[in-house]
Amino acid sequence: MKKVAKLSLFLLSLLLTTGCGNTKSNFSKKNKEKHSSSTLILGFSQIGAESAWRKRNTESIQQAAAKANIQLVFNDAQQKQANQIKAIRSFIVYRVDVIAFVPIVETGWDNVLKDAKEAKIPVIVVDRKIKVKDESLYAGYIGEDAMQEGTKAANFLLEKFKESEDPHINILEIRGTENSSVASERSLGFTNTIKENPRFSIIYSESGDFLRSRGREIVSNIISDNQGLNINGSPIDIIYSHNDAMTLGVLETLASNNIPSENELTIVSIDGEQKAINALKDGRINCVVECNPNIGPLLMYLVKTIANRNTIPKESYIEESVFTENDDLSTIPPRGY
Ligand code: AHR
Repeated sequence: MKKVAKLSLFLLSLLLTTGCGNTKSNFSKKNKEKHSSSTLILGFSQIGAESAWRKRNTESIQQAAAKANIQLVFNDAQQKQANQIKAIRSFIVYRVDVIAFVPIVETGWDNVLKDAKEAKIPVIVVDRKIKVKDESLYAGYIGEDAMQEGTKAANFLLEKFKESEDPHINILEIRGTENSSVASERSLGFTNTIKENPRFSIIYSESGDFLRSRGREIVSNIISDNQGLNINGSPIDIIYSHNDAMTLGVLETLASNNIPSENELTIVSIDGEQKAINALKDGRINCVVECNPNIGPLLMYLVKTIANRNTIPKESYIEESVFTENDDLSTIPPRGY
């Protein structure tokens, strides 16, 4: 990369990394001088910092980029698709080698990705999927299998309730961000599987936007509208929450209303944050389906592969497991998020 382009990138980094001390240092003058002209430059747009999971996801990408000697131009989109589109356009103008982004929602990417394709900059979609008319607009997706995560959550419940004689097993579902692929797939994988047992029904479902505050709020509203943890007189037996942040908010509300989550209520969550694992150990959560945020090393491998003009798989999934009340939880190593 020519000197002049590098200087432009330095300016771009100043524009895009406001408020992100760690990443700014990637583009400090000192570091810039250290990079050789062959250093790969990755423009990466993250959706924000809505959960401990997301913060770990960012860290994993930053650490892996540093280790792989890939220069990262990081953008925090503050939960706005418009900011992501703007960042991707800047990456194109400044001719980074590869673009990667976590799409906050599934649709609305066609035009900006057409521009990237015309500029011959390959794009990797990270953590959430996109729907585009022309699949050649991006090279590949890397992240979790959210459909499987929903399926795993449902399988735990099918097994747990297989002996139950209760004719109505009522579920409250707290969904992630509307129109995001993870929320749609976690719902779909779950509902497709849970219908194996017709006694299960989702009696209420609402989006909590993956936020702890919304988990708190949704359950508070149910309790105050229905004077207890029920919907129009039907008791809630199960809470299926699409992420740990919302689940932790739910637990706070239950505790402040003196509603014990142990015994009567079954709670299934997704992510595997340390605090959720602690709650699983205490019996306040029954199952945590892991969503693995440690995508960085595999992403950097794909970045290098594609920058060397080799193709990458259209879909690469990261390994994930499930933690349940039936496991020996003492062996789980510290989660790091
Ligand atoms: O896209 C992954 C989801 O986004 C994680 O489950 C959640 O914690 C995050 O906010």
